[in-house]
Amino acid sequence: MATQEEVYGGLERPDLDRELSWAEHELKERERTKHVHRLHPYLGKFVPQLVEVCLRRHFVSGGLVLDPFAGSGTTLVECTTFGAHAVGVDISAFNALLCRVKTGRHDLDRLAVLLADALAGLDDVTPDGPVSEYLADWFAPEALADLLRFRALIPVAGDEADVMRVVLSRAARSARRAPHHNLESPRVPVTGPYWCHKHRRTCTPTTDARQFLVRYARDTVKRLAEYAAIRGEVEVDVIHGDARLASLPSGIDGLITSPPYPGRIDYHGQHRYAYELLGLQDRRPEEIGNPSRGLSRAAFAAYCDDVAAVFANARAYLQPGAPVVIVIDDVRDLYTTILEQAGLELVTRHVRHVNRRTGRRDEGYFEAVLVARA
Ligand SMILES: C[S@@+](CC[C@H](N)C(=O)[O-])C[C@H]1O[C@@H](n2cnc3c(N)ncnc32)[C@H](O)[C@@H]1O
Repeated sequence: MATQEEVYGGLERPDLDRELSWAEHELKERERTKHVHRLHPYLGKFVPQLVEVCLRRHFVSGGLVLDPFAGSGTTLVECTTFGAHAVGVDISAFNALLCRVKTGRHDLDRLAVLLADALAGLDDVTPDGPVSEYLADWFAPEALADLLRFRALIPVAGDEADVMRVVLSRAARSARRAPHHNLESPRVPVTGPYWCHKHRRTCTPTTDARQFLVRYARDTVKRLAEYAAIRGEVEVDVIHGDARLASLPSGIDGLITSPPYPGRIDYHGQHRYAYELLGLQDRRPEEIGNPSRGLSRAAFAAYCDDVAAVFANARAYLQPGAPVVIVIDDVRDLYTTILEQAGLELVTRHVRHVNRRTGRRDEGYFEAVLVARA
């Protein structure tokens, strides 16, 4: 495995920020996915260590940090262990749920009991409720029945209920009729044996969701306990809404975010199983950059207006001169205009190298870390 020095020593990029660039070897997966960062998979997150460095460079503990594109909550979680208060906004109901569960303070003893009771009681429940075409297509009947039984045992309200929803969703993701080599964005369900590129052998889609419910119930309690031990006494506010219009607290000390980019990731679509099972509200028409908008000139123009509107809205709540840190792989150089349009002044443009392997993909590319001022 190449070291940091071998990967970056020879690069002719004087603008490369070595503190923000990690060789795979130096930043192990278990560190990138430490404690609650792996409560549920999410395509399109940045590494927590990147946020750690940005917090250290631009913020002091006790401050209030905004992430208007909160996603899976990486910024929010890192703020809480750094000692800053945080407010996050996301248009995806599932992402907002995940952010709340990750950053919340939970009664873990009660949670462990609720999970154990639910798992022990699965056979006493008759799965009911309408089954959508999506659920019928993407799950084997036995797997779906167990997921529906577990769902029926989630209390109607309460903080632990949300944690159980995340456990259900993670188990559903693993129990889908998706090929092992493409759990991130499977296109069609696999219903019989298939050649698996991940395991290099013929695999068969699972019919067993219970194994995942058991495994993730245990893993979730463990991860939440690890996080609880290092979470600071700070407040986190998660807003499920459109960041162009969201009403925020005033006097925010700065912002760290990674916006969506046109056509790259369907942030609602990647968690469709959760929307279907949990009956979450789909706000895809308000999702900026969703691939369904296409890549036309008009789509890019709309994207720029939308992201500029998010930053202009945030600026109204930021302290004058507050740092605005934006991590973006801006291949079309849209952000010079976006920042101007939002009334933000660009101070520095760092370049970081993303040296990471995910599944079968070898993701090596440069991305920008823009530091602007309100
Ligand atoms: C690149 S992801 C952020 C990932 C995040 N940094 C993390 O580590 O998990 C961009 C997020 O912007 C959200 N988003 C898109 N349009 C939005 C809008 N109008 N208001 C708020 N959030 C939006 C998407 O749902 C997605 O979760």
